[in-house]
Amino acid sequence: MAAVRLDQLRKTYPNGNVGVAGASFEIADGELLVLVGPSGCGKTTLLRMIAGLETISGGTLSIDGSVVNEVAPKDRDIAMVFQNYALYPHMTVAENLGFGLKLRGHKQADIDQRVAAAAKTLELEARLTSRPAALSGGQRQRVALGRALVRDPKVFLLDEPLSNLDAKLRLSMRVEIARLHRQLKATMIYVTHDQIEAMTLGQRIVVLDGGVIQQIDTPMNLYEKPANLFVAGFVGSPAMNLLHGTLRHDRGWVLATAHGDIALGQPPQSAAWESWRDREVVLGIRPEDLQLQDAGDAALIAQLEVLEPVGNEIFLNLRHGAQALVSRVSPRALPEPGSTVSLGLVAQRLHLFDAASGARIGA
Ligand SMILES: Nc1ncnc2c1ncn2[C@@H]1O[C@H](COP(=O)(O)OP(=O)(O)O)[C@@H](O)[C@H]1O
Ligand SMILES: [Mg+2]
Repeated sequence: MAAVRLDQLRKTYPNGNVGVAGASFEIADGELLVLVGPSGCGKTTLLRMIAGLETISGGTLSIDGSVVNEVAPKDRDIAMVFQNYALYPHMTVAENLGFGLKLRGHKQADIDQRVAAAAKTLELEARLTSRPAALSGGQRQRVALGRALVRDPKVFLLDEPLSNLDAKLRLSMRVEIARLHRQLKATMIYVTHDQIEAMTLGQRIVVLDGGVIQQIDTPMNLYEKPANLFVAGFVGSPAMNLLHGTLRHDRGWVLATAHGDIALGQPPQSAAWESWRDREVVLGIRPEDLQLQDAGDAALIAQLEVLEPVGNEIFLNLRHGAQALVSRVSPRALPEPGSTVSLGLVAQRLHLFDAASGARIGA
């Protein structure tokens, strides 16, 4: 087991592409850290640098306190599981699991013992003599994990390992990976582009965009206190409503938008807003914090366009001038599509961002 530390780790490809623009964070011994961001944000590049499969352009990478920038992949004791894991079709599950160890010169008795242990952990014991073609998608994925497991590495790197599975299987494999992590107490970095997968699996999540770390935090803090507009828009489904305008204050706080004023009341966090009076901001409202209410003290008036029932809740697609908004409500009798509705905000849960930099304003 091991702790991994990145200090301003950078990757510039020979063609000038910046894969990672300087990443610093530490993964504690035994931690499961999730790295999440959209396609092309640098996730694979970062993992490949840690594994030693990609040269490091700048900064330092340490494992258990020793700098390993120049250490060969085979000497880093790291196992990586890829999205496109290829099992050898002509080999049995046992042979697939043991093949890497054989290449590394392990004795057959040692290989047999490690393969048996991994097969037990991954519940593949009954399939050891099967060939990959006879396995289900989930079992194949477990064999791919098993090839990393038999090596008993210091660190596991998992690069979108569930992307090729269907939605239902992805869900059960996610639970499987969380269980595996608890059982092995191994240091793991899990990469995904799926924010829901990240939120359910990560104890701590690194959000990456354009090769730059946007925020490192717990799932709850990413949701409740996104550090900037990127994280605010990326985390949460349906996404946070984001409204551009000028922040004003007379009797109460108001966001003056192109489509009219939105009353923000007197939110408890507004002390930090004082210095932002009359400046351009972006207001963030989670769909659950935008609710239908009586016309009397409505924050804004909008058009109800489409209702999307998803079972335990209903998404209301609304329009305020040119601004599309989403509200999420519990199932009940609702106005007809096309109606004009009054909406209220949960003042304690408003988010405010600097329109220029995108940075969060206030706590
Ligand atoms: N071998 C390469 N040569 C040049 N640019 C690359 C190479 N590999 C990746 N990139 C670029 O680096 C960026 C990050 O890519 P990648 O790490 O694969 O992202 P992700 O895994 O998050 O989808 C992208 O802009 C990509 O085009
Ligand atoms: Mg990738």
